[in-house]
Amino acid sequence: MKAIGLLKYLSIEKEESLIDIELPRPIPKGRDLLVKIEAISINPVDVKVRAPKEKIEKEPKILGWDASGIVVEVGEECESFKVGDEVFYAGSITRPGTYSEYHLVDERIVGRKPNTLSYSESAALPLTAITAWEALFDRLDIELINKVENEFKNILIIGGAGGVGSIAIQLAKYAGLHIIATASRQETRDWVKKLGADHVINHYQSFKNQLADLQINEVDFILCLNNTDQHWNNMGEIIKPQGKICSIVENKEFLDLNILKNKSATFVWEFMFTRSMYHTDDMIKQHFLLNKISELIDKGEIKTTINKKLSPINAATIKEAHQLIETGSTIGKIVIENFEGDQKIL
Ligand SMILES: NC(=O)c1ccc[n+]([C@@H]2O[C@H](COP(=O)([O-])OP(=O)(O)OC[C@H]3O[C@@H](n4cnc5c(N)ncnc54)[C@H](OP(=O)(O)O)[C@@H]3O)[C@@H](O)[C@H]2O)c1
Repeated sequence: MKAIGLLKYLSIEKEESLIDIELPRPIPKGRDLLVKIEAISINPVDVKVRAPKEKIEKEPKILGWDASGIVVEVGEECESFKVGDEVFYAGSITRPGTYSEYHLVDERIVGRKPNTLSYSESAALPLTAITAWEALFDRLDIELINKVENEFKNILIIGGAGGVGSIAIQLAKYAGLHIIATASRQETRDWVKKLGADHVINHYQSFKNQLADLQINEVDFILCLNNTDQHWNNMGEIIKPQGKICSIVENKEFLDLNILKNKSATFVWEFMFTRSMYHTDDMIKQHFLLNKISELIDKGEIKTTINKKLSPINAATIKEAHQLIETGSTIGKIVIENFEGDQKIL
């Protein structure tokens, strides 16, 4: 099968930073599905794992943690899917990624592909939707069904136009929250407004002053989707007493937790690979939440976040997508569809 991998960790413009290779088609066992991949999306985690370093791999390392496709074989213990099912998923950071024609994934972290979306529109969603869902409803403990109470609560979503922000805004809106999103350019301001943000502020200026201009003194929830170091003190100033902050981006500097003490504010991390990495007892929750995302899409409650599509899936297009992600200013998601010479399964 075709795959795209690396042996050396190089800057993206280097010839060998990602290479087209041929690998044997894997065989599913246990609860694994073998999926024929139709589309993938590229995330900042791909770029972070590929970051230049001295290490050299003996076998090609396959990156990529977002895909949509068709189940072509199932392991002997599979219960939730059968051959021919259309699926979408992010996969596990501890296993080979989705830059390959055929891919093994545990069925407990796979969802039914939305019926109303194409493969590329679907591939834009899994990793970011799992992250946003777990952050909002598991870590910040926002009650999805309590729309009446949520209407009196507000959330600040920092980095609203990125891949995660674009789906987080829609899910927070669906839950009934009042949303303030951050964006720094006219294009990204327009994008977050269109997705449902009630107010937009700039992440390079004081949150406190900008919120005061909107007659907002404090916020119940903060979802930090970019540069935790930069936003830490700003977040501490505006979180409501007993409010909750969730970040998905690792800090590089020391963070002073004491700024939250007098307010008895909560700080919590979200890492969407936790469940698959540790095989937690509730790992199957990702299967259910992806199915819920599918249902919301098919009912027209939320929409795909795809904003750029490349084709075919090969080292050249994946390099192009990595370069775009490295700018830190992409809007929504970049998706790549079809392997060259792809035979459609009918
Ligand atoms: N923990 C997890 O499970 C998890 C899951 C997914 C992603 N992540 C991490 O979360 C981060 C965001 O992921 P993503 O896919 O949403 O990224 P992305 O799509 O690359 O985000 C791009 C957006 O970030 C905004 N941005 C740039 N600098 C910013 C800053 N200093 N403060 C706030 N916003 C800023 C830009 O908006 P403007 O152009 O308007 O400035 C741009 O639209 C990445 O670091 C990623 O690795 C973690």
